[in-house]
Amino acid sequence: MSAISGSAPGKVILCGEHAVVYGQPAIALPVFDIQTRCVVLARPGDPKGTVLINDHAIDLKSDLASLSPDHPIRKTITLVLAALSMEHMPACEIQIYSSIPIGGGLGSSASVPVALCRAVSAFTGHPLDDDAVNEIAFEIERLHHKTPSGIDNSVITYGRPVFFTKNHPLEWLEVPTELLFLIANSGIKGSTAKAVLQIKENWLTDPVRYESIFSDIGAISIAMRESLRSGNHSEIGKLMVANHHLLQKLNVSTDKLDTLIETANQAGAYGAKMSGGGLGGNIIAFIPQDKEETITQELITVGAKNVIVTRLSTREVN
Ligand code: PMV
Repeated sequence: MSAISGSAPGKVILCGEHAVVYGQPAIALPVFDIQTRCVVLARPGDPKGTVLINDHAIDLKSDLASLSPDHPIRKTITLVLAALSMEHMPACEIQIYSSIPIGGGLGSSASVPVALCRAVSAFTGHPLDDDAVNEIAFEIERLHHKTPSGIDNSVITYGRPVFFTKNHPLEWLEVPTELLFLIANSGIKGSTAKAVLQIKENWLTDPVRYESIFSDIGAISIAMRESLRSGNHSEIGKLMVANHHLLQKLNVSTDKLDTLIETANQAGAYGAKMSGGGLGGNIIAFIPQDKEETITQELITVGAKNVIVTRLSTREVN
């Protein structure tokens, strides 16, 4: 049998992170310039159920049975088999490749299970549909941090810009013009689990203050939806800046992220903010088409480790 593969994009959160865990809306965009790809190869000579894993992104080479039952890779495959009412995988080898930086808030923890679900289920001859894949990826998100909102698995599974509110139907966004974003890595790994827990502790201590910040962030997401629809560039930028100030109040930004954001804004971005869990990771800057090179250069000069250019257009919107 030839190799069967499955892939999934990365993602970036345009606005609303953290508040989305508390029921406020947020907007996330798929990023197809970074991807996870899983390849499954049959090993007909091996006993049934033998599955060899080679995850090149984290340098993991193991047989599946040696991983703990709660290891995200093993758990994903267990959930795929359960969804297909199958007991064993046909003997195989699974290669996992990902260009999504880990700890960057760009969706690596959701992208791997999505690509893996697709590849493994296709290999068994019963490809799961997106809804089933999304459910499994959400379960895996729970392993990474206990109370995920579900935004990451949703934007990555369906690969469309989404206006997301927990426990509400997904709302796809129409974006009439092409928008250009830079995603710059601070070089410091973030920890979504740590940031989410830190905010939860602070919220429990001072719920009134925190609820008010969450609802201000939610209002930004609602305004952002309108600005994206109407293609109001300067308003999109202003909303990003306002969102970043609120994330600073939640104490999930860092000096390095603030420096990158300040630099992007001064070099001509419409606006910039940290993206994802924070405490490290990436910033996202929304920029004019003719400023790509200048702003990229400025970001690298002040220490960005990697800059990804990504375009959001109707190409991704059906
Ligand atoms: O995976 P990250 O770092 O992009 O964070 C996801 C967004 C959070 O709002 C911080 C958490 C969540 O579950 O929505």
